[in-house]
Amino acid sequence: MVMLLLQVQHLYKAYRTQGKITHAVQDVSLEIGAQQVLAFLGPNGAGKTTTIKMIAGLVLPDRGAVSIAGRDPHHDSQALRSVGAVLEGSRNLYWRLTPAENLEYFGVLRGLSRRVARQRSRVLLDRFELSHKTTTNVQKLSRGMQQKVAIAVALIHEPPLLLLDEPTLGLDVEATQTVKRLVREIASEGRAVLLTTHQLDIAEELSDRVAIINQGKIVAEQSTQALLQQFSSAVYRVEMSALPDDRVARLLDLGALVEGTTIHIPDPTLLYPVLDILKPLPIVRLETERATLTDVFLKLTQATPTPINPLLNRATN
Ligand SMILES: Nc1ncnc2c1ncn2[C@@H]1O[C@H](COP(=O)(O)OP(=O)(O)OP(=O)(O)O)[C@@H](O)[C@H]1O
Ligand SMILES: [Mg+2]
Repeated sequence: MVMLLLQVQHLYKAYRTQGKITHAVQDVSLEIGAQQVLAFLGPNGAGKTTTIKMIAGLVLPDRGAVSIAGRDPHHDSQALRSVGAVLEGSRNLYWRLTPAENLEYFGVLRGLSRRVARQRSRVLLDRFELSHKTTTNVQKLSRGMQQKVAIAVALIHEPPLLLLDEPTLGLDVEATQTVKRLVREIASEGRAVLLTTHQLDIAEELSDRVAIINQGKIVAEQSTQALLQQFSSAVYRVEMSALPDDRVARLLDLGALVEGTTIHIPDPTLLYPVLDILKPLPIVRLETERATLTDVFLKLTQATPTPINPLLNRATN
């Protein structure tokens, strides 16, 4: 059993602007355990940032409950000691202060003694490879360095829960790799990490669990591998070196799809009937067509699904 560090139950939030109501978040529930990374995914405007702000105690939910390591950030100010957040655009920093000054300032603000704040600041700057920039104002750092400082600041009080809203936005390949490595390390220290990103390959690589939100509602929430598996196992692909016309006709009758010498099998129950038809022709390759998180995401978030892989769609029809 993993210890749950974040529990979000039935959150709702509507914004009212100029007489217009936006139902930004509707019945969102999430859980993250120690050492877990949850990728919180969804199209623009789906309600991710609003949810994160409600978790971080910055936006009051209309309904629902948040519990961080057992405490409610909207009723118990101690709960905020248990969470670190990097919101969109690393705006949790003072741009005219150096990285070390930022770390010490926010450390003291969150209850550390000056001595402890300074000591942790040194350790974090070293770990985030920023020690050579301790006297440069944040303003004059590169975007990737600023992002690293923002994450370090969110960790200064050693919170069990870290919220990262698009941590790799605008970063180059190397900085992205660094942030990915840091997220993995932070989780393996026993923390829970919630991250949003539009880079689904990063989400697929980093996350233990995925929650997908669309128009304010959760449309999937489960382990990343199980989700990919669920969308993958239904489809096989067989590659042949040659495929005579009479076999093609029989394969099509059965419901398989043929593209040159490749056969797509949209339904697992068709696998052996297809192999019977192919016998004894030589098979070059037989494999399951593994879905990517991008396939799954598009399938779950498109209002009228235009299938990425028409074969997957056939299988469910
Ligand atoms: N302060 C606000 N006032 C009014 N409406 C808001 C406010 N903040 C967000 N919204 C609306 O709530 C909805 C959800 O926005 P939110 O920022 O949570 O989406 P998101 O999933 O973070 O999107 P993105 O991927 O673009 O960052 C949108 O329709 C947005 O316009
Ligand atoms: Mg957002």
